[in-house]
Amino acid sequence: MSNAAAPESGLRDAPAAAAAPAGRPRVIAVANQKGGVGKTTTAINLGTALAAAGRPVLLLDLDPQGNASTGLGVPQTAREPGSYELLQGTPLAAATQETAVPGLSIVPASADLAAAEVELPGSDRPQHCLKEVLAPALARGGALGGNRGYVLIDCPPTLGMLTINALVAADAVLVPVECEFLALDGLINFLGTVERVRAAFNPALRVPGVVLTKFDQRINLSAQVRDDVRAHLGDAVYDTVIPRNVRVAEAPSYGVPVLLHDFRCPGAQAYAHLAGELLRRERQMRESAA
Ligand SMILES: Nc1ncnc2c1ncn2[C@@H]1O[C@H](COP(=O)(O)OP(=O)(O)OP(=O)(O)O)[C@@H](O)[C@H]1O
Ligand SMILES: [Mg+2]
Repeated sequence: MSNAAAPESGLRDAPAAAAAPAGRPRVIAVANQKGGVGKTTTAINLGTALAAAGRPVLLLDLDPQGNASTGLGVPQTAREPGSYELLQGTPLAAATQETAVPGLSIVPASADLAAAEVELPGSDRPQHCLKEVLAPALARGGALGGNRGYVLIDCPPTLGMLTINALVAADAVLVPVECEFLALDGLINFLGTVERVRAAFNPALRVPGVVLTKFDQRINLSAQVRDDVRAHLGDAVYDTVIPRNVRVAEAPSYGVPVLLHDFRCPGAQAYAHLAGELLRRERQMRESAA
């Protein structure tokens, strides 16, 4: 399928989970420069499943499309203050609102956020703006669930300043990859970018976890992509595979996660498994570090 080589970061053998300084929530960027691969769907439903497991989750919508805000039922008229205002200095608590999912809150995004791509480069430390505005709330931690909490950042499908800010603010990256033609080549390119951002701006960034999405068991290509990605990246790829499932696709039009829309459907169950796997990987990583 691809001759692309894995990037040099030792990805293949790396634990695909997030670390964070003791006592504060983990920050995970959900990112891939390719569009439509399931970033927002993963952020919403992984967030929902983690919240259902008793982990407080803040979903930061960092995409001017505002799809995570739409998918969690935030009306267009109720998206300010949101992530744009947060980047301009509005305190995190003021930009945060509750969702219909207990334990899951959101900083919504409005179309104004598109201006940040133009404005951020004029800042003193353009790549660190999000990290700096999140720092006070993360340091306090309590409202975000302390070391039980998660901040998930839903990134736009670009490698612009917003995505770089997310990678610099994050403890780890979760990369959804759609099981389709050329997926591995795009993934290898993106992981190269993650590695460059890590080396230049955020040495503490954990190597990514890759989540295969939209897997269709009736299509040979899906299985071929899954096997290729696993062969190249080993343990960095989550065991959980998210199936292509129409219930997942229709949930956003109801403004709810698929876990609330139809808990029993295969897509919802897969996201519940993904949350369990993420928590398990983190526990194993902490134990091996201790
Ligand atoms: N497992 C799935 N089964 C069926 N449809 C899915 C699945 N995951 C995502 N989709 C649908 O695919 C489309 C793209 O998904 P999503 O918005 O999550 O991708 P994205 O990577 O966030 O896109 P963008 O790059 O535009 O931000 C949406 O219509 C979504 O409902
Ligand atoms: Mg999206």
